[in-house]
Amino acid sequence: MKDIIISGRMKMADIISHDKRALVLLPRFGIEMGVGDKSVKDICNQKEIDTDFFLLMVNVFLNANYFPDRKLKSVDVDMLLLYLENSHKYYLEEKIPYLESLIEEFKKTVDHPATEQLDKFFKQYIIEVKDHLAYEDHTAFPYVAALSEQIKKNNPDISAVDYHIGVFEERHDNIEEKLSDLKSLLIKYFPPSNDRYIRIRILNELMDFEEDLINHARIEDKVLIPIVEHLEQKVN
Ligand SMILES: [Fe+2]
Repeated sequence: MKDIIISGRMKMADIISHDKRALVLLPRFGIEMGVGDKSVKDICNQKEIDTDFFLLMVNVFLNANYFPDRKLKSVDVDMLLLYLENSHKYYLEEKIPYLESLIEEFKKTVDHPATEQLDKFFKQYIIEVKDHLAYEDHTAFPYVAALSEQIKKNNPDISAVDYHIGVFEERHDNIEEKLSDLKSLLIKYFPPSNDRYIRIRILNELMDFEEDLINHARIEDKVLIPIVEHLEQKVN
């Protein structure tokens, strides 16, 4: 659904059929398939999800050109953190284990010495992704949660905290970049072998993961960072 802005009146099912990326997005809000013909707004109400927040996230995720400037101030930062944590959970508990199982299957199916190299490269990449997610889960997000707690108080005070969102912004690197090396390895350099469909499946999954990570990082850069900067200004 390129360049279409999703509205509350649209049917939830239409978002999915127009843009398959919504498939991974909806479960992060606790929305499962079986949505019938209900509108986005109806489902949000039913699930007690703030519709404006949902629309903001979906539009940023699905549309690289969408700039949410005016709507940012109304975002509930706790809701945003929950969404980001759910996304990380999906990567760690679903996507990465599935990719790992595909690589294992590839190693079993393909009798070629280069599989060892592919496996090594892949494992190295997964370590980097996990480090990236762990930093966010254990350092950046707890800081945002603590800041959000303080903001709710009469006299917010974060003077004891030796961290600010600028640190996160600075070190927020592109974990999806290395994925393209992995893709190239499979597309260009890994010799033709008896892998037939498994290679296609791995590539499909890697491309899907890559896209998801790019869109996820956009939410962190375009939504999380500006909101937290705004909160920091309030307490300082
Ligand atoms: Fe993240």
